[in-house]
Amino acid sequence: MIPTDSDYHREREAPGRDELVKRVRAKIDALGVDYIYYQYISITGRVMGKAAPSRHWETQARKGVQTWMGGVSNVAANFQGELIGFNSNAMECIALPDPETFVQLPWDKRIGRVFCTLYYGLEDPDQPGEYYEHDTRGNLKRFDREFRQANNGLYLKVGLEPEMLWLRPKEGEVQPFEGTTKPYAYHIGQFEEVREVWKQVSDYALAMGLDMIQGDCEDSPGQVELNYQFDDALPTCDRLTTYRQICAEVARQRGLIACFMAKPYMGVPANGCHHNCSVWTGGKREVQQLTDGDLPGMEENWAYSVGGTNEFESTKGDWLPTELGHHVLGGSLKHINALTALGASTVNSYRRFNDFGMWAPIGANWGLQNRSCAIRVSAPDRFEFRAVDSMVNPHLFCGALLKAMDDGIKNKVDPGAPESRNVTEIWMGGEEEVNVIPLNLHDALLALEKDDIIRSAMPGKFHDLYQEYKRDEWTRFLREVTNWDVEQYLDCVP
Ligand SMILES: Nc1ncnc2c1ncn2[C@@H]1O[C@H](COP(=O)(O)OP(=O)(O)OP(=O)(O)O)[C@@H](O)[C@H]1O
Ligand SMILES: [Mg+2]
Repeated sequence: MIPTDSDYHREREAPGRDELVKRVRAKIDALGVDYIYYQYISITGRVMGKAAPSRHWETQARKGVQTWMGGVSNVAANFQGELIGFNSNAMECIALPDPETFVQLPWDKRIGRVFCTLYYGLEDPDQPGEYYEHDTRGNLKRFDREFRQANNGLYLKVGLEPEMLWLRPKEGEVQPFEGTTKPYAYHIGQFEEVREVWKQVSDYALAMGLDMIQGDCEDSPGQVELNYQFDDALPTCDRLTTYRQICAEVARQRGLIACFMAKPYMGVPANGCHHNCSVWTGGKREVQQLTDGDLPGMEENWAYSVGGTNEFESTKGDWLPTELGHHVLGGSLKHINALTALGASTVNSYRRFNDFGMWAPIGANWGLQNRSCAIRVSAPDRFEFRAVDSMVNPHLFCGALLKAMDDGIKNKVDPGAPESRNVTEIWMGGEEEVNVIPLNLHDALLALEKDDIIRSAMPGKFHDLYQEYKRDEWTRFLREVTNWDVEQYLDCVP
């Protein structure tokens, strides 16, 4: 029997939703938007979805858009050619738009986008209309709500530092690309080489609600980092997704490659994506007028949390956080190995850690301004996760962070004293004991498997799906003969 009361129905009937749907219609008409992308996030952070004419907005906002269940795993097949996680006869799920995320695309003003939350189809035999547990964005929304409820309104704010490379395609078998700048960090001369690129990215970003705060050239060829203002977890993750889409569009227009791969070159720093964190009470959402005139989308895209109290930051005037801050750090540290499987999610991510001395952390510990640790208190008001790169699915990672922090607070987990030694040097020296994070994807996946708290951020069948997807990636890697193999072994015996 088709249910009439389910997560899907409750969301559709949520107070104020009809009003939001009408406000989107007013924006569609005022902006002349003819088509809408109905987007959701796959387990690896890819943007998936469908486009539909905007004249159907009300119907689609009411019913949602149907999509094959396996979209969440990128419709990918394993190395044996079988679909991962789902078969071709799997049912459809429902992508129900979150109207407040509607915004016009600045590069094609006839198109708008809206993020969706996924639900099991109403014909599903087991869970009709229930939350679809492979939807990392939908999960983050719920985990964020639960975290606030469980901790007297405490909430997480996150600020991201996505590094990426602007590359130019070129002929070449091993590296069919080259940097658009020299690897001179902070050099305005190099930043000037990509001036038109970063200006265009920033203009598009402002037009989609990203409050850009700073940017520079970093120390890899073509490497640029542009930062936007930190905010609550969900909007911050949505904005990273949007930022990567913007870069992809600018690359398309200019015949470049917008590369978020963790480590395309050895010997120079990789594309990290530090997650800066603090925990807050109070404050309110306030719309920031980032551009002149009417906002080209729902005001909520331009809203940021302002005011309130940073409960991480001690008022004692040193860099050590409050007692609550210590517990938040403690929880994060306790689960750092499993978190690494999500923050450093690809085979290639681990080349970043193994290229020692290139700023990437390896210590499974925390330190004050200590860049060799996976967790660094980088200023008295925040700490950062450094074992994360720009391939991350931020919704998944932040959902897991909330679970780790919640564990830390509930169980008053003590993170111990901050590490002041350079973990990388000690590790390379090999004489002293030091805790390190997993240094390859296989070990990280084993750590993830053993961590029930982090697995609670991957409910239902999601953890198994993730393992299946990522273990297949590992197996594919093992099944390659690389240039390195040939150089190393071709004629080395007798
Ligand atoms: N209280 C806070 N909570 C969460 N994020 C914050 C907070 N304050 C600042 N941020 C965010 O932290 C980031 C700071 O990046 P910035 O490059 O200045 O620092 P950094 O980590 O010291 O630099 P690097 O890692 O390159 O040495 C920005 O994205 C900003 O929005
Ligand atoms: Mg940082």
